[in-house]
Amino acid sequence: MYRSHTCGELRPEHIGNKVTLAGWVQKSRDLGGMTFMDLRDRYGITQLAFNVDENAELTAQARKCGREFVIQIEGEVIERSSKNKNIATGEIEIKVTHLTVLNSSLTPPFTIEDDTDGGEELRAKYRYLDLRRNPVQEKLRLRNRVALETRKYLDTQEFLDVETPVLIKSTPEGARDFVVPSRMNEGQFYALPQSPQTFKQLLMVSGFDRYYQIVKCFRDEDLRADRQPEFTQIDCEMAFVEQEDILNMFEGLIKHLFKSVRNVDLDEKFPRMTYAEAMERYGSDKPDIRFGMEFIDLTSLAQGKNFPIFDNAEAVLAINAEQCAAYTRKQLDALVDWVKRPQIGALGMVYVKCNEDGTFKSTVDKFYSEADLAEWAKAANAKPGDLILVLSGGLDKVRKQMNELRLHMGNELGLRNPNVFKPLWVVDFPLLEWDEESGRYHAMHHPFTSPKPEDFDLIDTEPGKVRANAYDLAMNGVELGGGSIRIHDRALQSRIFDLLGFTKEEAQAQFGFLMSAFEYGAPPHGGLAFGLDRLVATMGGSESIRDYIAFPKNNSGRDVMIDAPSPLNEEQMKELGIKLYK
Ligand code: AMO
Repeated sequence: MYRSHTCGELRPEHIGNKVTLAGWVQKSRDLGGMTFMDLRDRYGITQLAFNVDENAELTAQARKCGREFVIQIEGEVIERSSKNKNIATGEIEIKVTHLTVLNSSLTPPFTIEDDTDGGEELRAKYRYLDLRRNPVQEKLRLRNRVALETRKYLDTQEFLDVETPVLIKSTPEGARDFVVPSRMNEGQFYALPQSPQTFKQLLMVSGFDRYYQIVKCFRDEDLRADRQPEFTQIDCEMAFVEQEDILNMFEGLIKHLFKSVRNVDLDEKFPRMTYAEAMERYGSDKPDIRFGMEFIDLTSLAQGKNFPIFDNAEAVLAINAEQCAAYTRKQLDALVDWVKRPQIGALGMVYVKCNEDGTFKSTVDKFYSEADLAEWAKAANAKPGDLILVLSGGLDKVRKQMNELRLHMGNELGLRNPNVFKPLWVVDFPLLEWDEESGRYHAMHHPFTSPKPEDFDLIDTEPGKVRANAYDLAMNGVELGGGSIRIHDRALQSRIFDLLGFTKEEAQAQFGFLMSAFEYGAPPHGGLAFGLDRLVATMGGSESIRDYIAFPKNNSGRDVMIDAPSPLNEEQMKELGIKLYK
């Protein structure tokens, strides 16, 4: 038996007990006559005490144990003279009688404590050591709880966990595929699934009725704080449902998770907003509604006063930063520089200070009178002491830029409290979006999304205006999940493939299996998938999903610990029949 207790378990009621513990040496302190050592495992830290007068040999042995040595000790639980209220075992310590070194350790490249001195890169390289740290383990414990409670909830709702293949066929929609060469079928490739979308639909055709899977998905896309090339979905599908059934079912899941894992009660009913409204009010399909600062359209007020930048713009949008008129010149210049960064891409920013005395000071005083600016302030519901920030340009662009600026101001003003959770269903997404580059429509969600029946007539005349039975769940500015009611009719599915620019042959080659399945009694069905990494990070109050993944990739898609990706050797390449261009 390696241990009788864990390092987080012993309390004053154990005083007098003989115990055996095993774990890692976090640190030791030599105080002449006494040597103290912190022994750590997943469950906590227990102090070990060695008295040189009582056992010089044992103390000498203890002093040789460096940080991260793995040791086993036997001893007696005794009361501690100086108690540590900060840790659960802080009232006791172990008077050690035997010590066995189970393994030695090199000096770790950074300190393995809650606050480490290790930089991000170093910790990524030694992720297995970083994972020993409590705050990191805490995050994975949260993830485990969320996954477990997800399974519990879905199980009570009759969902069946069904695995789907990981080696599938490459399809051109969505992000780029990761591909895997097939040795047995030279010159042919599998793709890793971007999601199990078509399989879960086939499971509905097969009569499974309710499916779920906590499943890895793979997308070769540019990475950000909330994007990894391999990530995990809580992927779900239901038959014989309408949008309302799905929203209710998964609102229930999210409420259950917040209650059971974080003891947070979410509002009775999650608010809903159409995509069109979200774009108009927040310039985003995943608005953070923890704070206001909604967009104000100043286009008509700002145009016609001979200020060419506004006169030539499709849209002039503003936000009101309350109580920010006191911003200094330096702060305002910094804001202007911020919106001009290439990531945001604004050409400039106009601001209007609403002075406490009711006058205005703006960067466009030359073109706009006090009365004009008073009109702007009225439209923006700005009070003395407020600051109006204005951007202009093409509507889509300026909305995107203003969304970024709004979130930035929200951060600056402390309006984005990570312990406040504001879910929002965004509904009625457009079915299609125009892609300038390819000069054709793309499915906004995926090609299996059903148009709203009331918009069927627009499919041939104004496809860009067709709305879909598609929905996303946003929370705190993060898209946690999304889904749709699917097309289950072969004729409609073919029509949508047409619209997306697939030839009959292409549609058949890519999705023939699904279209054929639709001819054998496909039930009406729909579903959704949550990003587990994003859900857990949001529940943990963080914007970065990387911390919630045991072995994440960096921003270039590399795993710096195992050093992947890496070249194949000559032999392997030959076997696969692959030759590199270049
Ligand atoms: P979608 O593409 O919206 O839908 O993905 C569902 C959810 O997965 C998460 N997500 C990601 N998380 C981390 N890194 C990524 N690269 C990444 N990409 C997506 C998001 C997102 O909301 N098959 C459909 C679902 C359906 O229609 O049922 C799908 O995959 O949280």
